[in-house]
Amino acid sequence: MSHQTVIVLDFGGQYNQLIARRVRECGVYCEVKPYTTPLAQLKAMEPIGIIFTGGPNSVYDEKAPRVDGAIFTWGVPILGICYGCQLMAQALGGEVTQAQDDAAREYGKTLTSYDTNCRLFRGFPAQGISWMSHSDYMARVPEGFALTAHSANCPNVAVADEGRGFYGVQFHPEVNHTEHGVDMIRNFLYEVCGAVGDWTMGDYLKTSVAAIREKVGSGKVLLALSGGVDSSVCAALLAEAVGRQLTCVFVDHGLMRKDEGDEVEAAFAKWDLNFIRVDAEARFLDQLAGVTEPERKRKIIGEAFIRVFEEEARKIGAVDFLAQGTIYPDVIESGAGDAAVIKSHHNVGGLPDYVDFREILEPLRLLFKDEVRQLGRELGLPEYLVMRQPFPGPGLAIRVIGDLTREKLDTLREADAIYREEITAAGLDRTINQYFAVLTNTRSVGVMGDGRTYDYTLALRAVTTSDFMTADWARIPYEVLDRVSTRIVNEVQGINRIVYDITSKPPATIEWE
Ligand code: XMP
Repeated sequence: MSHQTVIVLDFGGQYNQLIARRVRECGVYCEVKPYTTPLAQLKAMEPIGIIFTGGPNSVYDEKAPRVDGAIFTWGVPILGICYGCQLMAQALGGEVTQAQDDAAREYGKTLTSYDTNCRLFRGFPAQGISWMSHSDYMARVPEGFALTAHSANCPNVAVADEGRGFYGVQFHPEVNHTEHGVDMIRNFLYEVCGAVGDWTMGDYLKTSVAAIREKVGSGKVLLALSGGVDSSVCAALLAEAVGRQLTCVFVDHGLMRKDEGDEVEAAFAKWDLNFIRVDAEARFLDQLAGVTEPERKRKIIGEAFIRVFEEEARKIGAVDFLAQGTIYPDVIESGAGDAAVIKSHHNVGGLPDYVDFREILEPLRLLFKDEVRQLGRELGLPEYLVMRQPFPGPGLAIRVIGDLTREKLDTLREADAIYREEITAAGLDRTINQYFAVLTNTRSVGVMGDGRTYDYTLALRAVTTSDFMTADWARIPYEVLDRVSTRIVNEVQGINRIVYDITSKPPATIEWE
């Protein structure tokens, strides 16, 4: 594709994907590449600029990541952030040392003064808050560099050699705590690198529809549609591109939220494709009967799903392409090691070997989640699908604690629908990243009218998070909780007590099972 590209060279910092997202939000395409990528490969991408990310190391460590020095004579503008800044300074003849006294180490929000004549800070106020996280500092900046920002503790918060297009900042422009951080990234892209802003989802839609048509030709495409954002947008994009050459198999396992199956089906009514909805509720519930252990539930559901999909695929016969809704964060190579497995969720890697196909098709492979949503909007998918919160593959099976019955699932569906309705009505659905109800396995005594009840306790969960790896419980206003509670106990049979989950992750997880 013919858009301008920026490379985000990854040195292992925690905000690297965020940098890439910010660049794309500015209308410029970028890719994250590990710092070990050979220079020739980077050159082949013909970038208009490179951003060196932060990283956990100190540049003077023996094993610290380095770059090929020839990158500095290539003639492409470079913005170094934190470690990236220090690395550039050191490589170009400066000196970086560990701050000896605490004052020179900077963490957190720091009042920073900018030289607004520098292209990076053009249009900035003279001072603003920036987010620092460094214990090393540039004792001597390289020749040719000017100091372009300072704080009370640090004379060289930012440095620049404008002639060569080299810029370095000790703070993190990509995080929200840095005021004007995005403006700084935009200045680098537009003022320094000469970006034209040719990355929009409208254009992407056009070029990717054309690319898919060319690749698929008259071939057949098969996709397992889960109803989540990624698979839905993937299905819509393919439907737009190849229409009836696409078959979507939507396995309705009966573990979805209220009306969800119908909503998903309705969203695809506008395309002429082969849409197969398999009603497999009885089969799933049958296999799950009496099962209480969360990982067993996951295993049974995962396997049953594969069997059902396999049966449908057999009916369809050989296809040319198996499509998957893989997105960019799933494919970015990074040096980070694997974390311990707490739950066996992430359904990546398990290629169905039972489907007879020639090639995998991953049309969302380059997109971040926000971009996938935007593309969904461009395709005309309804907002409730595009903005859908994450929903686990095993669905409500892991939100009914202990053994499952159709009746318990229905109770949970009703309660969960009310909860979601009230969160949306209160305008909280944009700030809370995931919220749902859990039917606990606990029954307690209550009184309704003049009678005693002995019914289930429902738990409400709501979290704010940026990556779902850690999460904080959401501070929902009491009035909203009160409305939810009153409505649920009045409107849903079988629930007489509501509790709100006030644990963060860690130590709890987001789901209860
Ligand atoms: P936890 O509960 O591990 O959840 O804090 C983190 C995120 O992952 C989702 N989740 C799952 N997703 N299959 C999935 O596809 C699963 O088995 C599963 N378990 C948890 C959870 O909803 C949250 O967004």
